[in-house]
Amino acid sequence: MVKIDVEGCRSFVKSEDYKEYLGKALEAFDVLESGKGAGNDFLGWKTLPSDTPESLIKDCEAVRDLWQQKGVDLVVVIGIGGSYLGARCAIEALSHSFSRELGTGNTPEVVFAGNSLSEEYLAELMDLAAERNTACIVISKSGTTTEPAVAFRVVKAAIEERYKDASERIVAITDAHKGALKTLATQEGYKTFVVPDNVGGRFSVLTPVGLLPIVVAGFDVREMLAGAKEMEKVLAERSEKNPAVQYAAMRNLLYSKYGKAVEVLVSYNPKFQYLGEWWKQLYGESEGKDNKGIFPASVNFTTDLHSMGQFIQDGSRIMFETVVNIEKSNRSVVVGSDPQNLDQLNYLAGQHVDHCNHMAQLGTKLAHIDGGVPQLEVSIENISAYNLGSLFYFFEFSCGVSAYVLGVNPFNQPGVEAYKKNMFALLGKPGFEAETKAIHERLGK
Ligand code: PA5
Repeated sequence: MVKIDVEGCRSFVKSEDYKEYLGKALEAFDVLESGKGAGNDFLGWKTLPSDTPESLIKDCEAVRDLWQQKGVDLVVVIGIGGSYLGARCAIEALSHSFSRELGTGNTPEVVFAGNSLSEEYLAELMDLAAERNTACIVISKSGTTTEPAVAFRVVKAAIEERYKDASERIVAITDAHKGALKTLATQEGYKTFVVPDNVGGRFSVLTPVGLLPIVVAGFDVREMLAGAKEMEKVLAERSEKNPAVQYAAMRNLLYSKYGKAVEVLVSYNPKFQYLGEWWKQLYGESEGKDNKGIFPASVNFTTDLHSMGQFIQDGSRIMFETVVNIEKSNRSVVVGSDPQNLDQLNYLAGQHVDHCNHMAQLGTKLAHIDGGVPQLEVSIENISAYNLGSLFYFFEFSCGVSAYVLGVNPFNQPGVEAYKKNMFALLGKPGFEAETKAIHERLGK
């Protein structure tokens, strides 16, 4: 279960201003709950934790079991943006950091593709796939996104060349009716899962988009959904104590009245690097529009205290931090005592490394507050599927409330189209001839 602490912001804001923004956040909460706000045809994510049927999880498990019977030991998950970040975040957070090196990881290993157009990455991935017993999950809600489509064409060809049962080694997650991927999947007889019409990509981690890769990777999505469900209940309460209302109120206040235009999501555990990536996409695409929005950034401490720490402490005073606090470590390592004490660390003898991490966290909090960086804290007890589900739901719900406080539609992403149009024109996609001509004139070709 997620808890929030806004005390680290108090000295930066007037209490009457916070009160005013709590009021605005409650109004935004009402808009979200009424289902009458902008983008209200994309609210399906709100009830996923309580609505997801057991049969869907069983369907995911059937894919996992089939591939296990076939001895599959590598699953390539193809997707970009909301079609991969949630799954990647969960799998990285829940996996042993060195399972690959130890050879003790869950089987199959899940790797990701189609989230860039790097030829080297794809070639190297194909080197790996050639050595392994491979299957593939291809995810695209629209079914037309270029990056996953290019990767899928390559992976599909390799699977078809190697395996007679190729069509059983490919699962597609896409729209129920439309898009090139849907047509292709139907034609090829692939097993398909549906991305619901009313759930946008960045809110889709609790649909098959996230659930299937997470199940195939061997993690417990029932627990994840249970954590999300608890948050669904907590966040439904119309109250100034609602953590999503507090988060939305404080971040909008810092942005609108105190010029804090950058929010840095901080974690103190490398397993949460992709939580930062998932969160940045969620908030960046939901809020950054109409020339408004808080720029979402992320760092991993204490690692980045030795790179970005200087700027955060001392550079332009444009930011606030949201720290994802993990109350306790799942593993235990204690600093030993050394009779010679040559490294002068005996003052830490008997202490858990996690204690040192928390003292670094507290020390950093105080230093950054002294340096003019307000700090919000979002806490979970430990890293687990349950708590990850709570975090996913907390940030999604807060994002809806927050974007409505800001006055933007949280559920569209008109700005993403601009680069696509230019890329299609430059690549000579049929239908883009006029744009190609305009671009060539612009580039003086
Ligand atoms: O949040 C979003 O809607 C986007 O980030 C999409 O997830 C991303 O662009 C991928 O789109 P699609 O699933 O249609 O390939």
